[in-house]
Amino acid sequence: MNNQINTIGVLTSGGDAPGMNAAIRAVVRRAISRGMKVKGIKRGYAGLLKEEIMDMDGKSVSDIIQRGGTVLYTARCMEFMTEEGQQKGAEICRRHGIEGLVVIGGDGSFRGAGKLAELGINTIGVPGTIDLDIACTDYTIGFDTAVNTAMEAIDKVRDTSTSHERCSIIEVMGRHAGYIALWCGIANGAEDILIPERYDGNEQELINSIINQKKRGKAHYIIVNAEGIGHSASMARRIEAATGIETRATILGHMQRGGTPTCKDRYFASIMGAYAVDLLGEGKSNRVVAYKGGGFVDFDIAEALAMKKDIPEYEFMISKALVR
Ligand code: ADP
Ligand code: F6P
Repeated sequence: MNNQINTIGVLTSGGDAPGMNAAIRAVVRRAISRGMKVKGIKRGYAGLLKEEIMDMDGKSVSDIIQRGGTVLYTARCMEFMTEEGQQKGAEICRRHGIEGLVVIGGDGSFRGAGKLAELGINTIGVPGTIDLDIACTDYTIGFDTAVNTAMEAIDKVRDTSTSHERCSIIEVMGRHAGYIALWCGIANGAEDILIPERYDGNEQELINSIINQKKRGKAHYIIVNAEGIGHSASMARRIEAATGIETRATILGHMQRGGTPTCKDRYFASIMGAYAVDLLGEGKSNRVVAYKGGGFVDFDIAEALAMKKDIPEYEFMISKALVR
């Protein structure tokens, strides 16, 4: 039997992440180097269902490795959550000669990829999300750029916070996960880091700590709050009322998803994108590319989605120990 794949598709889905363009470029260039044709699908599964499909060649991905966002655009698509939507998607792939598909996105996008694989389209997921919340992998494309963007922004808030001797709550993204908050909290030397995996809602403890540190002469008090906890504005009002210290909330928001990808994001995206094509070239399907234990590996999609990961306890403990 001839398992040779002649044509593959590539799409980006869910929230965009810096480095997605580098991954698209790697998919296209690796496929061409293996003698495959590539079709780019715009706007994720939504674009697939609308047949927004275009031929891509080596030149079509020139000059994008350094750009944030995704040149294929991205979207969320409710129709693809239905069986009819998934069957329509598989049928459209077949009609366009797409025998293999690379899906760059997060857990939700991999669920969709698993459905397409069940329907006979060889599908591989590549982890692209700033949240670092995909359990099977130690790294997700976009995280490094996002934490560096947030870190620089928090440094700036710290300057004005110190000048006014204020308390500042800075809310960072991460959906239900606290990785961005933990990394920035440590890298910015924050006085407190609130993450959904560990925060018990004890605001009085937080207030006592602010009052004690103020007594010891601290000019500012920086709290990095994860979006999974949220409510930064109302928290700021309560802290100000309880401590008498002026408190401001800053929500960094979507700026964390944009910007020039760092070297790390370009590097991981390039290797992971190429690796996905190599899996398709070997006739594999229903896999997620991952970085684990210092190397690039792959997992069955269902097994990957069933895995759990948690904030490393030692790192969280140290984040508290470094505050004086
Ligand atoms: P992410 O991939 O970043 O986790 P989402 O969770 O929003 O982002 O998922 C992106 C898209 O993947 C959804 O809009 C939907 O089209 C598709 N998707 C998510 N979950 C499923 C599912 N259970 N079955 C099929 N498709 C899904
Ligand atoms: O998954 C990436 C992410 O930026 C999360 O951190 C955040 O919760 C979500 O996407 C925001 O989504 P939207 O762009 O739809 O507001």
